[in-house]
Amino acid sequence: MLVLGIESSCDETAAALVEDGHVVLSNVVASQVETHSSFGGVVPELASREHLRNIGFVVRKAFGDAGKNYDRIDGIAVTQGPGLIGSLLVGLSYAKAMAFALKKPLAPVNHIEGHIYSAFIEHPGIAYPLLALVVSGGHTSLIVSPEPERYRLIARTRDDAAGEALDKLAKFLGLGYPGGPVIDRLAGRGDPRSFHFSIPKISDGTLDFSFSGFKTAALRHIQQAGIKTCRSPKKVPQKVLDLVASYQQAIVDTLVAQTRKAARQHFPQSILLVGGVACNSLLRRTFTEAFEEKVYYPSPILTTDNAAMIAAAGTPKLRRGAAADLHLNAFAELPLC
Ligand code: KG4
Ligand code: ZN
Repeated sequence: MLVLGIESSCDETAAALVEDGHVVLSNVVASQVETHSSFGGVVPELASREHLRNIGFVVRKAFGDAGKNYDRIDGIAVTQGPGLIGSLLVGLSYAKAMAFALKKPLAPVNHIEGHIYSAFIEHPGIAYPLLALVVSGGHTSLIVSPEPERYRLIARTRDDAAGEALDKLAKFLGLGYPGGPVIDRLAGRGDPRSFHFSIPKISDGTLDFSFSGFKTAALRHIQQAGIKTCRSPKKVPQKVLDLVASYQQAIVDTLVAQTRKAARQHFPQSILLVGGVACNSLLRRTFTEAFEEKVYYPSPILTTDNAAMIAAAGTPKLRRGAAADLHLNAFAELPLC
């Protein structure tokens, strides 16, 4: 089954052609980083306009790269939410128009489910039940899936997402946007034991996350150590390297500790590490040490937002005939469970 995936929930316009849910024939991502970087974060109105500008080209390129004609696809999968509503509507409207013109079925996909399926593209044999840590700029959740397409949310963040916490500190220190990859790179040259961050305890017995305390602690360290905003990303003082290394370590320790507790309670066969922050080298290394052969994570191109994961998640829905009609709408908030 050949599926066209379309993704536009945040600041990446993406289209991909995927065969049978895991053979990626093309995977095109138009990033808007340059548009948003001077603002230090995504500006929703600019994001929608960029999606409008890019979507036609991105879809055409996905067909061109795959060497397929439009009429060869068996269906279309599109992100329905969660995300920025104006951005989502661009991809969704384009997908509806294509489904109508080509007379092909259309499957709505939850962006979080897309991230979970991103791990299946390179590892189609992942065993259930699975536990997924979905960790990105917008989400930090632990999800148990006893079988395909059934999900239970067992933990979420009470405040910031882990990626948001990384992006905010980088912005504050003048290190650029998005901050996650910059911190990942710089942290290797810092000492993760130099600044103390206490791991928050949530006392109601849930496995929920909280990252805003780290941000407050980082601001205190910045004041006490007299750290100044960096003028050039090329000349970063040692104190800043030590601070970002300690901050990243605290976030990784929290993510691993909560996932470990969840694994002890739910006995998963597989543990998935997905979403943009799953690119983080320390997080990958620590997960692999903690959970060994049970861990699966996608290659970086499939880890950050992309449309191959949306096509992969849409494939089982299209196979069982669960197509939407053209009244389909997008939702900024769209629970998976
Ligand atoms: O999944 P994604 O592309 O978009 C959302 O759904 O949010 O994730 C983007 C997030 C950003 O916060 C970015 O800073 C973070 O992923 N990120 C990283 C790395 N690469 C991207 N965080 C830490 N280390 C990285 N190498
Ligand atoms: Zn995402």
